[in-house]
Amino acid sequence: MTAERPPWDPAQALSGARYSAVELSAEGDRVFVLDQRELPAREMYVTLESATEVAAAIKAMVVRGAPAIGITAAYGLAVAAHTLSSESPTSYLAAMRAAGNLLATARPTAVNLAWAVSRMLKLVERHATLSGKERAAEVAELARTIHREDVAACRAMGKAGADRIPDGATILTHCNAGALATGGYGTALGVIRAAAEQGKKIRVLADETRPYLQGARLTAWELHEDNIHVEVITDGMAAFFLRRGEVNAIVVGADRIVRSGDVANKIGTYGLACLAKHHGVPFYVAAPWSTVDLATPYGDAIPIEERSRDEVARIGGALLLPEGVPARHPAFDVTPASLVTAIFTERGEHDPAYLASVT
Ligand code: MRU
Repeated sequence: MTAERPPWDPAQALSGARYSAVELSAEGDRVFVLDQRELPAREMYVTLESATEVAAAIKAMVVRGAPAIGITAAYGLAVAAHTLSSESPTSYLAAMRAAGNLLATARPTAVNLAWAVSRMLKLVERHATLSGKERAAEVAELARTIHREDVAACRAMGKAGADRIPDGATILTHCNAGALATGGYGTALGVIRAAAEQGKKIRVLADETRPYLQGARLTAWELHEDNIHVEVITDGMAAFFLRRGEVNAIVVGADRIVRSGDVANKIGTYGLACLAKHHGVPFYVAAPWSTVDLATPYGDAIPIEERSRDEVARIGGALLLPEGVPARHPAFDVTPASLVTAIFTERGEHDPAYLASVT
């Protein structure tokens, strides 16, 4: 089902904004997502009614961005628990585990997905003595908690990062690490929003972010909605503006930050980090602690999602390559910790090397 207006009560939206990437219905039986494939042309909301539909929407990037897909998966489990409320504890547990597995594997690189599912399933494992109604209520409440915590984390890291952004700065960002990619407010865009809220005059250069164009379609849409000055550039133009001294900082989000401090993010991020180093410009990463994966030792161990040739070969249905010519599509790359100036999380500002010492 699709609708042109948010299908939720605006007073109950957890994003804290006019729009949300994802919300759970008041009854806990449906997940509403803003269809990001349609932006900026149309604001369309899709209703999802099962964990299977939620996993398919994550795979198809109806909803995307590491924290947002974690929250969406948690809501997918809430819907599953609602549907399973008349099942016995044993079949409930088996079905919830299966739904969790389906959701956690929908996309491989963003660790927030597996993190959220694992947090939800820990609760589910303790549900043997509860009624179906009680189970569903607890699962929905935890999913909403994950959503609320993410918005709070975005605001906290936004503040930590904004303190590093000088008045009058031009910030380059890549992909979309905004309200659309999170529970609300955004990570990299949270830093930009917080700097603007501090009264700083900020100009943003948004990489269009080939092939999926999250920068051109989504980051530009969000910042334009907020009246923050944004100009879109093609990915290949970043070097030009850095060489001209027009960029004061690069701020990006992350899909996974591992113990070594290496950072997986949207394909093209690593190139920007190299450029930042070459030009002496700070390269900042903003992400919630749910993106930190201390169990993975270094960046080369991060699974990198390979998406379809079609996303590279076509834009808006138009074929860009000769028929029969293959294309490659790694959706993420890894930036070594040595290129990262600082990481902002809800816990504050960290040197990437700090993660090695976290117990
Ligand atoms: O493929 P996507 O659009 O899900 O990739 C998103 C990114 O790479 C973002 O930069 C990252 O998830 C951080 S979102 C706060």
